[in-house]
Amino acid sequence: MKTPKPIVLYLDDLKEQLTNFSANFFDVYKVHTANTTAEAREILAHHPVQVILADYSLVEAGEITNGVDFFESIMSAYPNAIRMLITGQGDKEVAVNAINKGRVFRYIEKPINDEELKMIIDGAAALYLAEERYRQLLATLEDKVKERTARLLELNAEKNEFLGIVAHDLKNPLANVKMFSDLMHKDVETLSKEEIKEYTGDVIAEADRMFTLITNLLDVNKIERGFKAQPIRLDLASITEAVADNYRGRAEQKSLKLHFESKTPQANVMADEVATMQVVENIVSNAVKYSPNGENKNIWVRVVPSDKAFRVEVQDEGPGLSPEDKEKLFGHFARLSAQPTGGEHSTGLGLSIVKKMVEAMNGKIWVESEKGKGATFMVELPAAP
Ligand SMILES: Nc1ncnc2c1ncn2[C@@H]1O[C@H](COP(=O)(O)OP(=O)(O)OP(=O)(O)O)[C@@H](O)[C@H]1O
Ligand SMILES: [Mg+2]
Repeated sequence: MKTPKPIVLYLDDLKEQLTNFSANFFDVYKVHTANTTAEAREILAHHPVQVILADYSLVEAGEITNGVDFFESIMSAYPNAIRMLITGQGDKEVAVNAINKGRVFRYIEKPINDEELKMIIDGAAALYLAEERYRQLLATLEDKVKERTARLLELNAEKNEFLGIVAHDLKNPLANVKMFSDLMHKDVETLSKEEIKEYTGDVIAEADRMFTLITNLLDVNKIERGFKAQPIRLDLASITEAVADNYRGRAEQKSLKLHFESKTPQANVMADEVATMQVVENIVSNAVKYSPNGENKNIWVRVVPSDKAFRVEVQDEGPGLSPEDKEKLFGHFARLSAQPTGGEHSTGLGLSIVKKMVEAMNGKIWVESEKGKGATFMVELPAAP
């Protein structure tokens, strides 16, 4: 790409100088000339001038009668242009002074031949371009810093919200533990064995609830600090079948029929064993947790082959998910329209953990569901070579 010509403005109150300058440099620079300071300002306002040359003596140029004052007057509006002063023999001292005060980049002493002048202007234009690149870099960096700061603020707000929910979720069971213990403590002489059994049972249930929440929180924390899956060759069918067997009893308590079926002779995947188990457990436990209690509904757990992968499908006849539910499903503390139907606890963290785990194993998780028509959760893990 041809580099565009440097854009140069030359201000002098002597017309003849301007004409000469234009004639000598029009083929190497985009030259603007101004006979008065007003004209020069007009040009600056409409053209991206990179280098400004002004004669020191501007007796005829308008209200301002020297180049240094002119530069001073435009400095704040056009700080980036490289300013150079053309001086006669007697003006050296003012020029040096102007340089020291930052109004002028350098001075050029007359008489000067065209070749030298060209070298100086080229140098100034190169400096302008270098500074421009630097300014752009700085602007990009500033944008990035702004973006990151915004993201950090967002994350911080998320963490605060997270903390608020955790504290809230721990408070209720803790209050119950305190209440049941208080009761027992106060009435220790009069309570029957049955009552003590009931109250301690309640304390245990509440402690379990807190324990689940804490375990999930630790999982979230572990995953957010970067969960590293340790993939090994696993038979997804036998893991899934074991989980299904494990949940069949709980399903039957709610009159749910839990079916297992493997549609593939083998289902060898490369996956982390503990994580895979946790993933399958969460979607099977959800199907049991959110299916209607006592209505003889079905849950189908299937293992099916897919493209270079194997898939676990868990289909239920529960309440399903609305479009808004689906949007929030894999977020933290997603307690959505479906609520546990058998007194189970719900932290709303399970699927957020599961999703990260599945992704860390290069797998996929998604749901197909319509409100009122059941849900099918699908987890796909890469097939072992
Ligand atoms: N099979 C399902 N049918 C209908 N809604 C479901 C189903 N599975 C999950 N949900 C909804 O999604 C929400 C999030 O599920 P998730 O597994 O993340 O949390 P949880 O089951 O509430 O708690 P946890 O898994 O931590 O015990 C649930 O609260 C429930 O409202
Ligand atoms: Mg769950």
